[in-house]
Amino acid sequence: MALNRIDDQMKFRTRAIHVGNAPDPQTGAVVQPIHPATTFIQPGAGEWGKFDYSRSGNPTRSAVQETLASLEGGCGALAFSSGMAATHCATMLLKSGEHIVAGQDIYGGSYRLFHKVCNQAGIEVTLADLQDLNSLDAAIRPTTRMIWLESIGNPRLTVPDLPAIIQLAQARSLLVAVDNTFASPALLRPLELGADIVMHSATKSLGGHSDCLAGVLAVREKSLLDKLYFIQNATGAVLSPFDAFLLGRGLKTLELRVHEQCRTALRIAQCLESHPMVTRVLYPGLTSHPDHQRATELLNGGFGSIITFEAKCDFETTRRIVKSTKLFGLAVSLGAAESLIEQPATMSHASYDAAARVKAGITDSLIRLSIGLEDFDDLSADLDQALRGGN
Ligand SMILES: Cc1ncc(COP(=O)(O)O)c(C=O)c1O
Repeated sequence: MALNRIDDQMKFRTRAIHVGNAPDPQTGAVVQPIHPATTFIQPGAGEWGKFDYSRSGNPTRSAVQETLASLEGGCGALAFSSGMAATHCATMLLKSGEHIVAGQDIYGGSYRLFHKVCNQAGIEVTLADLQDLNSLDAAIRPTTRMIWLESIGNPRLTVPDLPAIIQLAQARSLLVAVDNTFASPALLRPLELGADIVMHSATKSLGGHSDCLAGVLAVREKSLLDKLYFIQNATGAVLSPFDAFLLGRGLKTLELRVHEQCRTALRIAQCLESHPMVTRVLYPGLTSHPDHQRATELLNGGFGSIITFEAKCDFETTRRIVKSTKLFGLAVSLGAAESLIEQPATMSHASYDAAARVKAGITDSLIRLSIGLEDFDDLSADLDQALRGGN
């Protein structure tokens, strides 16, 4: 799984197409075959071939894991049945009595896993404001093992100071796990900055077509990869061969899609900023975003495809707006060809406790957009008619 020198020399977009995608030796097919086999004939009793049972390893899954490791710059990657399965696997590195410090601006499902599942296993989680390194430092306890953060936060699109957080964590021998879903490796590769684990909801930009539920852990060091592989194999939430095929196909166009979505997102964010029905736009590409400078330094090639904004209205009018777009689909998820709209307070972040939602700045009039691959003119016209009271 280690990158060889030729891989290192190739550019991201080329690796997305060629690493893990060697022509099939039997047929010359230029795309990976889907191997639905659950079991594999072995050379002898107690002698093991490369694959033995599909939970432990499957050729289609191995191929996409190789591509993923190359794109994130890791020693290896593991593909899971969902992003939450991948996150759960990472948390299972900890034992009862140990502690995680997580960022405040995180996906609602991660919040739920940390507070309503990990705690049952005796793993405590404290949320800290990662924009303030003193607050992060103060949250660290003698039992802390891991810092969990999103490279672009959700839904406020905060961009934490990843190099400084990694430095702080390394000084205290803590693992740094980064949910890189919003940025994708096309914009940011945390392992190259010294993070230990990168997690993805590959359901989003990596798959890119709203047709494959998947999760990924990419890892910097082999010893950690081995531990995570052990947990994955023991617990079993692996990616199916068909979904591994879809994910591999999506990765081939990742950079093209992400860069195009970033271009459109920046233009939409600029339009929203001057819209009379909008009070505030949060997009790291805007100079008005508190983390704009850091985003410019850390992100390469764009600022992501997600925009959040506050509408100048109450809860019910916000609900009406998100229902009255014609191109933007009213749905959670993001990073796909089709643009989506949602109200975090009632949808993606409904699993936050009410008080935590307020603390995280998730107001009733907050709207989140995922910019797809449609034409800018059509998307901006659709938002305008919805904001002006269309239905
Ligand atoms: C940032 C982020 N992390 C993790 C997840 C969970 O991934 P999945 O839905 O693939 O389990 C999501 C899902 O929306 C997400 O947006």
